[in-house]
Amino acid sequence: MKSIKHVASAPAKVILFGEHFVVYGAPAILAAINRRTTATARIRADDKIVIRSDIGTSAEYSRTNVGKRDTTPNEILEPIHDAVKRVLDASDKSSGVELDLQSEIPYGIGLGSSAASCVSAIAAVDSLFASHQKKWVCERAIESERMIHKNSSGADCYISTFGGIMRYSKDVGYKGLEVARNLNLVVSSTGIRHSTGDLVERVRTFREAGLLNFSELAKQASEICGKAEQSIRSGNLDNLGRLMTENQVLLKGIGVSHRKAEELIELSMKAGALGAKITGAGGGGAVIALARSRGDGARIASLISNAGYESLQAQVDHKGLIR
Ligand code: MEV
Repeated sequence: MKSIKHVASAPAKVILFGEHFVVYGAPAILAAINRRTTATARIRADDKIVIRSDIGTSAEYSRTNVGKRDTTPNEILEPIHDAVKRVLDASDKSSGVELDLQSEIPYGIGLGSSAASCVSAIAAVDSLFASHQKKWVCERAIESERMIHKNSSGADCYISTFGGIMRYSKDVGYKGLEVARNLNLVVSSTGIRHSTGDLVERVRTFREAGLLNFSELAKQASEICGKAEQSIRSGNLDNLGRLMTENQVLLKGIGVSHRKAEELIELSMKAGALGAKITGAGGGGAVIALARSRGDGARIASLISNAGYESLQAQVDHKGLIR
């Protein structure tokens, strides 16, 4: 045992392009942003896994008496418990763990709070016994995420672990993208929390109903991703913004937008954004807008706040998981 207390943190994410279609093999472009979840792990003398989160939830589990939970089931903490248990089981140690999570990431609005919690929790607990590579942490986080969202593409855990801006697809995996210009993003919240699993399921039903040619929409989403990759590399912000707005048309088409999200997109565009779209699963959740400069971003964010919505300016986080 190396130490009795370890800390790890992992960032939030936005999906710039390709959410939902990525579940069916299309590429997505994601960015980690400068809001983090920090996990602090301590070894316990007994066999309990105790998890406390500053969003006001806590849960206590027994390792030996599997299935025994000392608190009522908790959807938010369940994957984190699974993640911690996986690491403890891999360590061959019989001790329990106490885990404290502090998060700057609003949860349930598509900013990857669940992935950041799983990634930071796994890394903090792993550091108590070993020091596995980031890839090891990421793979376990994806397995735990799949408890609540069984068709997860894995994209959220990859970006939270490795940071920066990346192109991700299920087949090819991830590739970091060089950015020619800083991206100034404004993230605003509809205030409506969603379940990613439910929305992915909604898209599956939509796809199977065959009303629109889903594979044609996925092809268009892939083309948008390809062009966006070039615009990111060349620093063409105007093109990037236009492509975000084009991507939003597809997301609206598959039924994952929301009246309030459309209102936020309209507000962002009126305030001078270069493009705007929902980010993540949708159905409410968050909207991202691309600003030409930090100053423009501040103006867009304040106009959105004046309209009664929460909004924040976000910068790309290049570090990913820190332990
Ligand atoms: C959720 O952040 C992104 C989705 O594409 C689901 C996934 O990739 O697993 C909606």
